[in-house]
Amino acid sequence: MMYSFPTAFYSPVATVTKDEEKARKEKMSILIERYKDKVSTLSTTPDNQLCKYEDFWYFHGFWYHSKADFTVEAVMAVQDDFQALPTDIFLASHPKTGTTWLKALAFAIVNRSKFKTGIASCQTHPLLTISPHDCVPFIETESFLNNPSYANGLLATHIPYTSLPKSIITSDCRIVYICRNPKDVLISLWHFLNKVRDDSSPIKLVDLFEIFSKGISPCGSIWDHVVGYYKASLERPDKVLFLKYEDLKKDPKNVVKKLAEFIGNPFTEEEESDGSVEKIIELCGFETLHKVNKVSSDQVYFRKGVVGDSGSYLTTEMIETMDKITKEKFDGLSISFEA
Ligand code: A3P
Repeated sequence: MMYSFPTAFYSPVATVTKDEEKARKEKMSILIERYKDKVSTLSTTPDNQLCKYEDFWYFHGFWYHSKADFTVEAVMAVQDDFQALPTDIFLASHPKTGTTWLKALAFAIVNRSKFKTGIASCQTHPLLTISPHDCVPFIETESFLNNPSYANGLLATHIPYTSLPKSIITSDCRIVYICRNPKDVLISLWHFLNKVRDDSSPIKLVDLFEIFSKGISPCGSIWDHVVGYYKASLERPDKVLFLKYEDLKKDPKNVVKKLAEFIGNPFTEEEESDGSVEKIIELCGFETLHKVNKVSSDQVYFRKGVVGDSGSYLTTEMIETMDKITKEKFDGLSISFEA
C-alpha cells in the first residue's frame, strides 16, 4: 500500500511501515518547502460553510489539497520532474470513477502471459494477493516519493489533462481515461472520505454536495476533468482512449477487448475462444477483488461497485441540480449517462 498522510481530507488509510511512513513524510516536507512560495500565491477556498472540513487550493483551473497526497505540491512536482517514456501507458481518472478497476484490468491484460488469469487454475496472480494500487503506481505519489520500478510501463494519475506534465503529451504516450456518472462519483466519494478521514466528525452529504457541485473536490471539478480528457480523445484518438464505468459494467467483454487493443496487447482469436477475456473480467471483478482486499486497508476502494447507487442517497433537488450541471457541461459532447 502506497499512501500515507492520514490527516488529509483525501488520504487513504496506510499500511506502510513506520520507517516508510517517516521517509514519506520527510520527502513530503521537502516538497512543501520547495513549493511554499508558489502555493502561497494561489487562491484558496474561503473559510466558510462550504469548506469547513478542509481547505483547497486552485491551480491551473482545478482544486487540490495541500500538504498531503494528491495535492497541489504533488502536481507541481510531477510537472517539474516527471519524464514520461513513449512506451508508458497512463490510466487517468478523477477519483472514485473506477480507477482501481481499470488498474486491475490493465495490469491483468498486460501481464497475462506471465500470470495465468483463471482464478481456479492459478492462485498466484498478484491481483489475488495484493491491491491493484500496488500493481500500478500513481505518478503523483510514487514517482517523486519512492522512485518505483514501473509496472510494465503502466502508470496512473488523477491529474487533469491540461495539467499533465508536458512529456506525457510530447512523448506520445497512450492514455486511457475512465469516467463515471458524477452523481455516483459524489456518493462514492462521500462514503470513501468518511471511511478514511481520521477526523471523528463525519462529512454530511449535503455539505459535500454543496462543494462538489461547485467543482470543489480533490483534483477539481469532475465535469471539467472529464471534458479535458474527452476532448483530447477526439483530437488524438490513437493516443487517448475514453472509457465509461457504466459501459464496463454493461458490456465488459467488448470494453476489455477495446482496452487490450488500445494498450497494444490485443487478444488473439485463440484467446477469445478459450475464455481468456472472461477470465480477466472475473479476476478483476468486484466480487473477486473485494474478497482479496477484505482484510487490507485497500478495502476502502471496494464498496458496492454498482451503477445508479446515488439514487438511494440524493434528494430530488440534488439530482436535478447535478443533472443540470452535467447537461450544461457536456453540452455538444457525446457523453451521457442513463440514470
Ligand atoms: P462505489 O463507492 O460506488 O462502490 P476508484 O477506484 O476510482 O477509487 O473508484 C472506486 C469505486 O469503484 C467504488 O465505487 C468501488 O466500489 C468501485 N469499484 C472498485 N473496484 C471495482 C470493480 N472491480 N468493479 C466494479 N466497481 C469497482
